[in-house]
Amino acid sequence: MVVSESEQATAVGKDILAHGGNAIDAVVATAFALAVTHPSAGNIAGGGFAVVHIKPGTDAALDFRETAPAAASPDMYLDAAGKPTRQSLEDHRASGTPGTVAGLFALHAKYGKKKWAEVVAPAIALARDGFTIERTTAEGIAHDADQLAKSPASAAIWLPGGKPLAAGATLQIPDLAATLQRIADKGADGFYQGATAKLIVDEMKAGGGLITAADLAGYKAVWRTPLAVDYRGYKLIAMPPPSSSGIVFAMSANMLRAIDLAKLGWHSAAHVHQLTETWRRAFAARNELLGDPGYVTGMPIDRLMSTQYADELDATIGPSATPSKQVAQLIEGVHTTNLSVVDGGGVAVALTTTINTGFGNGVTVTGGGFVMNNEMDDFTVKPGSPNVYGLVQGGANKIEPGKRMLSSMSPTIALDGKGAVYAVAGAGGGPRIVTAVWQSLSNLIDFHLSIEAAVAAPRIHHQHLPDKVFVEADALDQPTAEALTGLGYALDWSNPAFAFGGVTALARTPTGWAGTADRHRGGAAAGDGP
Ligand code: GLY
Repeated sequence: MVVSESEQATAVGKDILAHGGNAIDAVVATAFALAVTHPSAGNIAGGGFAVVHIKPGTDAALDFRETAPAAASPDMYLDAAGKPTRQSLEDHRASGTPGTVAGLFALHAKYGKKKWAEVVAPAIALARDGFTIERTTAEGIAHDADQLAKSPASAAIWLPGGKPLAAGATLQIPDLAATLQRIADKGADGFYQGATAKLIVDEMKAGGGLITAADLAGYKAVWRTPLAVDYRGYKLIAMPPPSSSGIVFAMSANMLRAIDLAKLGWHSAAHVHQLTETWRRAFAARNELLGDPGYVTGMPIDRLMSTQYADELDATIGPSATPSKQVAQLIEGVHTTNLSVVDGGGVAVALTTTINTGFGNGVTVTGGGFVMNNEMDDFTVKPGSPNVYGLVQGGANKIEPGKRMLSSMSPTIALDGKGAVYAVAGAGGGPRIVTAVWQSLSNLIDFHLSIEAAVAAPRIHHQHLPDKVFVEADALDQPTAEALTGLGYALDWSNPAFAFGGVTALARTPTGWAGTADRHRGGAAAGDGP
């Protein structure tokens, strides 16, 4: 089964599985297809993470997060008065050195079955022969039209005649087909060296960006040891830093382990209180302490993941809201997209990839046909100042040359007590990824909902600062909202459903696999379901 945020990309993955490919081949082919059909998030010039289950006892985590170019520096996005500018988001300087192609190549080289060129071929065909603009892509183009209009190469593709492409239109991108063909022919070198690398460097020079040929040639994906988080008899295989998700999941699982959430009642005031106080503390730790393990020494991972620390934090939770300012003292220290795949042999992959906000910085590499990321904004541009997601982060995540920016991407696999795959999940949505994936898995495990209902259920979110509970329409009834306000919570109902993340997930049922692409954003599941 394959689940992604694009029907055409899901169909590519399903076809690879049907023709002898394993889950790794399918995830790589689907990811390349997403770079064509879901271009606001799917990419070849962004980065991501993958969590893989090969067989009981063999799990792996791949980090292909972007890196800060060698010329980057901690204060590079501050103006003369020391104020953050929009440059970490909006122009050529916003791009980190891309990791996606190196990641997909490393993933396939280690665990793929089909030939590399065969898994890249469907994406080439889509770009060369034409694909249909899906609803979410059309909405993304319209939403980001002003940003895309600033890049002539972006405007030529996405705004023909000055108008955003509409849903249902057919589009060919010959430059992207040629770029993908070089990747099919030469592997990762077809992107990081030669013609494509030159196009990227020329684009950077033309727009004042920092990425050089040496940055590209030096990029490496890194295999990391996944984190294993016990939760009510299941084992969540999760991403370690530079993703923050595994740590937040471990802290959440430990802090909630003694509480029967189902007994509290789904989205009762008591349930929302427990979730919010847990996330407030876990995100406070995330925002202050975590960063790239290659640069930040002494991250207290063992302590953060310990049940003893969870008990200490639990002891600070009272009957009402704790102001986030107080929690900061307790701690010592759209557009991302996920795809979930499982094959008939029990191999499973959750892979999340991003260019950060919709269409990244909006800059299409002239002659390359693909858009660049604006991932540098995920670093701490200025300690104490919020980033585009409102996250207030600390020095551990400051900008340093070659460093990976802290992420919330949460590709996760849940194994049952026998070590077999039970569920695969991940999401897009900035820091809301972590809480969206957590709520989907908790709805499945604690509340015994089907995977479809677990993902579709309305959500809430808290990330320490701003000190608000973001609430999706229909997530709470009026008496519960009033009870929470009485406990001291500031509820913010202003965000649209779209802002609560887009989960793609699948789970085992008694009769086969069930998969779902979130109503919050769309997409498709395809495979041998029940
Ligand atoms: N760009 C969003 C994240 O990685 O957290």
